Amino acid sequence: MNTQTKLEQLKDMKMKIIGLDTLVFGVDDVAACSQYLTDYGLTPVAVTAQGGRFEALDGTAVEIRAKDDPALPAGLGTASMLRETVYGVADEATLDAIEAELATDRTVVRQGGVLRASDDLGFALAFQVTVRKPLALPAEAVNAPGAEPNRRPNALGLPPDMPASPRSLSHVVYFVPDTAKAEAFYQRLGFVCTDRFIGVGPFLRPAGTQDHHTLFMIQTPPFMKGCEHFTFHMGGPTEVLLAGTRFVEKGYQSFWGPGRHRFGSNWFWYFNSPLGCHVEYDADMDLHDETWAAREAPMSADASQLFLFQHREKWAPSGPPPAGAPLRPVHETVPST
Ligand SMILES: [Fe+2]
Repeated sequence: MNTQTKLEQLKDMKMKIIGLDTLVFGVDDVAACSQYLTDYGLTPVAVTAQGGRFEALDGTAVEIRAKDDPALPAGLGTASMLRETVYGVADEATLDAIEAELATDRTVVRQGGVLRASDDLGFALAFQVTVRKPLALPAEAVNAPGAEPNRRPNALGLPPDMPASPRSLSHVVYFVPDTAKAEAFYQRLGFVCTDRFIGVGPFLRPAGTQDHHTLFMIQTPPFMKGCEHFTFHMGGPTEVLLAGTRFVEKGYQSFWGPGRHRFGSNWFWYFNSPLGCHVEYDADMDLHDETWAAREAPMSADASQLFLFQHREKWAPSGPPPAGAPLRPVHETVPST
């Protein structure tokens, strides 16, 4: 088989990118980010004063290191702290196909099972056979007249100690100076547009998942290039509200939400963070397959969400919380871009 034929065959193979395995950040304040990611609900793994890994239930994660750590990929030349986006793929054949595609016009390094390259906007990328562990957890169960009960008698919908742990790294949103150029690059890797905000950017789904989006991009001036936010999937809207409420009660600052997006139908709640970006909880995102036709809409408040709430301190008809109630701990957060 000649080289050209093999390359064409590899390109024709479906590149089964499943989703994000890890996002790597180089941060100003490792201690503050460690506290933040732990309070958000991720599990610290091998974390030291130099940073470490913070995992969701399926092993997807955020990794942080000090911004001057020489082990980090170079930054984007902006204020963004994102240093690398690591995608999990289905198999070695997908790594072969990505390597064949990207090696046609850029440097690609494959070492220890990890393939590294940069996209056309300068974002450092890595690809590996996914670290995701299969999860066997129920979705939020809802009872409704007209439907068979989803929760058995005496099973409480909201026990006070209900866990609300991030299950899986959902999506990342980039600020980019040229969304058309960026979209063309990710199309080469098998990403398809599921919906688009006209003049803003596309929601992109890689071929190995049916999630509405793994990557969304927003057109911005070049100095803003970087990560706008990332989010982990929760078990349902109640977990978004519960985890977000607990996060507020730990002193973190709500940025937007809770609410429910129009494109993707995902519930959301965004928070400010010391990672130079917003951090979100999400749940119940739409799934799509190849029969889906992407929608387009101008960006607006109505297009961005169906409804939006705002957190309020707990209250009851008998009055506000008692005077002299202990103050909640307040952790310093840095307003993000
Ligand atoms: Fe999001």
